[in-house]
Amino acid sequence: MKKTLEIFALAAVLFSACTSRSGWTAWEKTVIEQSDSVMYVAVMPADSAILRAVSQDFGPKELGSEQLQTLIRKMYRTLTDPSQDGVGIAAPQVGINRRLVLVMRYDKPEKPIEPYLNIRIDSLIGQKTPGPEGCLSVPPYRGIVRRAPSVQISYLKADGTPVTEQVEGYSAIIFQHECDHLDGILYTDRADTVYVNEAWAAEREAFSYPRPDWWN
Ligand code: NI
Repeated sequence: MKKTLEIFALAAVLFSACTSRSGWTAWEKTVIEQSDSVMYVAVMPADSAILRAVSQDFGPKELGSEQLQTLIRKMYRTLTDPSQDGVGIAAPQVGINRRLVLVMRYDKPEKPIEPYLNIRIDSLIGQKTPGPEGCLSVPPYRGIVRRAPSVQISYLKADGTPVTEQVEGYSAIIFQHECDHLDGILYTDRADTVYVNEAWAAEREAFSYPRPDWWN
């Protein structure tokens, strides 16, 4: 009986260690500290190990840390840089397998880009309809993907406040694309068709941002 209890206790410890990593890893600290203000964006197929991994939640040690603020600031700068010019970005795309996305809120005045921590999509609402999609990590392709017109999401704000809200329209589609990244899913996995976007291919060539020496 005692042995059984010990096994249960060990399993509980292992389980909690697996679900909430304690503190930043050495790799995460390297990415956050060594990255330029415009970060290297992981691309397929070279960076598939990171892009295909399932991301973990932030724990109490990371929430509110200076490194998290730096990461959010650099991801914002990366997303809005002319070399990327995206509408959303997920932490795995800059080398961090954590549940963080930045999304442009087309449904709000001024279309702010906001960070969402430990985010999950609770439910997809409405009939899925097809639309064009691309991804900073999958150049130079675009594809047609069917997405729900509305989502209910739960997340923590940058200050740690928990929020549940329903989002409609284009931002709802961005949330579906970015949250897929946190589960190692790329839009090409869901696309009905994928095609090369020649204009984007040329643009990406002109702005190509090299993989830093310390990466890997
Ligand atoms: Ni993407």
